[in-house]
Amino acid sequence: MVNQKLLAPSILSADFSNLSQQIRLVEVGGADIIHCDVMDGKFVPNITFGPMVISAIRKITNLPLDAHLMVENPDCIIDEFINAGVNYLTVHQEAVIHLHRTIDYIKSKGVKAGVSINPATPVHVLKEILEYVDLVLIMSVNPGFGGQKFIHSSLRKIKELSNLRDEMGYNFLIEVDGGITKENIKEVSEAGCNIFVVGWSIFGNDNKTAA
Ligand code: DX5
Ligand code: ZN
Repeated sequence: MVNQKLLAPSILSADFSNLSQQIRLVEVGGADIIHCDVMDGKFVPNITFGPMVISAIRKITNLPLDAHLMVENPDCIIDEFINAGVNYLTVHQEAVIHLHRTIDYIKSKGVKAGVSINPATPVHVLKEILEYVDLVLIMSVNPGFGGQKFIHSSLRKIKELSNLRDEMGYNFLIEVDGGITKENIKEVSEAGCNIFVVGWSIFGNDNKTAA
């Protein structure tokens, strides 16, 4: 499990006027997971979509859906995403006060629970939650927008987390999100990443299936 390598195209950079066709293109290209970026205009300076859109996406693909909640106070809306049919639900450490309760709740509903940290948040704040999560998402750009440049020091954080996982014998997956390109994906992988979130490098490409 800790050696898995999965590709999760982020629809943030897809053509929203034709989402089903865009998802079909990456499915044919071998996508493993569809990454859905939920933004509330408060936790991050951008607004995207919510459970209604995810529920519509649920009907057009059998791939696992991975909802990345970049929202303040996610506890209020977790049920709606679970009912929309997500398989992975990730909240930000910076946005949740009772993180253990939130993670426990998500898992009690049969959904994989993830925690994410921003570039300026150190890995060590996650120490007490690591044994409970299914996934840790390391943000390698400041969240809010697609197409930004990979923050190089994220590699150090991925390695630190991966070492900690080995040391403690944990099984969570490491997901990395932001600025992944075909030039840097190898080093991100070698650092210990399992799930590669890729937005612009796929949907900004003329041939999304090949990308
Ligand atoms: C950024 C989002 C990412 C974004 C990554 O806030 O969380 O999922 O779509 O996109 P790229 O690959 O374009 O950096
Ligand atoms: Zn994301």
